[in-house]
Amino acid sequence: MQYGFFDDDAKEYVITRPDTPYPWINYLGCEEFFSLFSNTSGGYCFCRDARMLRLTRYRYNNVPADSGGRYFYLRDNNDVWTPSWMPMKSKLDRYECRHGMGYSKISSCRNGLAFKQVSFVPLGDNCEIHKVTLTNESGSEKNIDMFSFIEFCLWNANDDMTNFQRNFSIGEVEIEGSRIYHKTEYRERRNHYAVWSVNAPAAGFDTDRQTFLGLYNGFDSPQTPFSGKANNSVASGWAPIGSHHIKVKLAPNESKTFVFTLGFCENPQDQKWEKPGIINKTPANKLLEKYNTAEAADKALAELNAYWKNLLGKFTVDASSLSRPDDIKMARMAGVWNQYQCMVTFNMSRSASYFESGIGRGMGFRDSNQDLLGFVHLVPERARSRILDIAATQFPDGSAYHQYQPLTKRGNNEIGSGFNDDPLWLICGVAAYIKETGDYSILDEKVPFDNDEKLADTLFIHLKRSFDFTVTHKGPHGLPLIGRADWNDCLNLNCFSATPGESFQTTANFESGVAESVLIAAIFAFVGPDYAEICRRTNRADEAVYAEKEIKTMTDAINLHGWDGDWFVRAYDAYGKKIGGKECDDGKIFIESNGFAVMAGIGVDDGRAVKALDSVKEHLDSKYGIVLLQPAYKNYHLELGEVSSYPPGYKENAGIFCHNNPWVTIAETMLGRGKRAFETYAKICPAYREDDSDLRRLEPYVYAQMVAGKDAPRFGEAKNSWLTGTAAWTFVSISQYILGVRPVFDGLLIDPCIPSDMKGFTVTRHFRGSDYHITADNSAGAEKGIKSITVDGKAHQGNVLPVFNDGKIHKITVIMGAH
Ligand code: GLC
Ligand code: GLC
Repeated sequence: MQYGFFDDDAKEYVITRPDTPYPWINYLGCEEFFSLFSNTSGGYCFCRDARMLRLTRYRYNNVPADSGGRYFYLRDNNDVWTPSWMPMKSKLDRYECRHGMGYSKISSCRNGLAFKQVSFVPLGDNCEIHKVTLTNESGSEKNIDMFSFIEFCLWNANDDMTNFQRNFSIGEVEIEGSRIYHKTEYRERRNHYAVWSVNAPAAGFDTDRQTFLGLYNGFDSPQTPFSGKANNSVASGWAPIGSHHIKVKLAPNESKTFVFTLGFCENPQDQKWEKPGIINKTPANKLLEKYNTAEAADKALAELNAYWKNLLGKFTVDASSLSRPDDIKMARMAGVWNQYQCMVTFNMSRSASYFESGIGRGMGFRDSNQDLLGFVHLVPERARSRILDIAATQFPDGSAYHQYQPLTKRGNNEIGSGFNDDPLWLICGVAAYIKETGDYSILDEKVPFDNDEKLADTLFIHLKRSFDFTVTHKGPHGLPLIGRADWNDCLNLNCFSATPGESFQTTANFESGVAESVLIAAIFAFVGPDYAEICRRTNRADEAVYAEKEIKTMTDAINLHGWDGDWFVRAYDAYGKKIGGKECDDGKIFIESNGFAVMAGIGVDDGRAVKALDSVKEHLDSKYGIVLLQPAYKNYHLELGEVSSYPPGYKENAGIFCHNNPWVTIAETMLGRGKRAFETYAKICPAYREDDSDLRRLEPYVYAQMVAGKDAPRFGEAKNSWLTGTAAWTFVSISQYILGVRPVFDGLLIDPCIPSDMKGFTVTRHFRGSDYHITADNSAGAEKGIKSITVDGKAHQGNVLPVFNDGKIHKITVIMGAH
């Protein structure tokens, strides 16, 4: 069953009932200030860092789910209700939530009182805006009491939910008219505060949670809206909140609009106070004056719309060019939502979602480099500085901190290093950046090692150290040592953990120096040639020759020790025993090494690639995507670690771990199997499962990290939406390999691989300063292969489009078929 629909023209997902199987959220914010916003106005916001600078409180794993948000309680003639449905679960005569690009709109109606909320984070300012409109659709005058409600977080989200002996005494607020200031810790160590304001006179306010709610009441039954009158409570310790009481008189058909703003304000250290004890409100005044009218809010929203229109104009898919009815789902994902999700992963990495608490994880070294593949075409300048930030956390020997903190940009000691795939992803990210932009100058940037300026060297040297790290850390079979883990964080071959609570990833009870990863070998064989090519193009011919020799050595090792007869082996454990081989009882075959080895071209010439992918289909495929391994581990294996700790069918233990499915999609295109490539693409694509939302549960407009595999009781149920490398890789798979529009060092390569019954397609691609308007004609019914290409009406040799860099639109016609 569906809970809404895609409004493609508006680029919105429209949710038509509030009781979605899980909160379906959106992200507001594109720069420094971000909000998580659910379809019932739940969620929270923060500035820059979800852990350290959180403005509003959110309780993860709460009952009922999704309590905490920006709420409006309406009291209409003794009837109290919440127009976003939650938290009162009010019966609504109408309800709709539209999640759009950086904004969300909720509208509802009850007893002739219509409510509309437009929420967004404007460009250039650190605030959330909620434009609220009340309309009297009844035939008689209404006198409404509206109560706004937010609950402040005492900034450090981790401390906020643990350190109650301190926190119950430190909360402080200031109130001035309709402006409520949250200034906890401002007196001493902070120079920032929050303000919650409305552009209308308030009849009263509350800032003390207990007073507003009443003893033992929840958000669903707060005392104050029922009493119809605010208490003017001033929080002192405990839990500071912000609530305005606004009286609204509405004649029949009359509407009134209010602009609520929740802002983050900072003062220079020496200008913190207006007078003793009174905070300096200059930044708040400036912010609130700017958004003081509905027109000003509309203008800011229009600017935001233009920002997204420009971004999403960089790659578009023309749905009307697609012959098969279902392909509209691909068009809306590839052209809009998939890229939107890539921008969210750019902004959030893995920090804050409805599955990531915003407290645990910083920016991942490996994750951020892969995420870059999905947004480099959208924001190349920001990708450039992201690369430099990431590289600065690399160690001099080429290994890397596994994570770094976005505020300090320093490596995270708690997680440490030793994930031996990490260094190679830097090469992958930098190569993607250069192919997109042609900007080789990034290689000359001086970048610190371990954030130490004294150790700085060029980015090129960082790449070399990455490459060399793999070359110099090999095990008995000449394959790369796995270290703590490779891409699969749960393959902990040197961990041997028997102690509850011990981290599988940071504990090593046994330094084997033996456990090896075929996946890292395959990643090396995939990114290595780009490294060699970069060397050659920057006059480092000797280094290129060296690199090619090492790639050959690695490929030989894969051929010798990484092939199991019908598929690629996954790894060798600390005793030198195969993982992902026929002799294993469980875990005989894994997806990752098979996808990546074929992506690297291994076995393509001699039939093994076909065999490997056929084996993947035979053993790992399912209705909802390709599971990570088979058979699932039924018992805990000390020598394998976390992968065997999950119940069969979940997460890395045979779940459909979506991130690696596009590797198989890409691999299939390398074999020219367009039908199968599209099938693997569509199976995990959320839009294709919209009708199945009761089972899938999560948003039909975003990818999830995992869908439960065939061994799980809840086969087909998704978890962990939004912040996943799936976003970037699926975008790469559909845009670069299926539709086949792929940036390469010399230009834009055209190489579609599609199902034979797809009659063609039209896409536009912005690339190095020009727009390429590409129409592919597949009336020949091919799966791969190009008969001819014309560029602006002239025949073009080969399939690499030139770099025009002239700000113009170029018309490209591609005829598929045998050459
Ligand atoms: C998560 C992690 C990622 C890892 C993957 C597989 O998505 O963020 O780094 O590669 O899990 O374990
Ligand atoms: C990893 C990934 C996840 C894995 C977990 C292990 O980084 O998020 O897939 O299960 O951490 O703790």
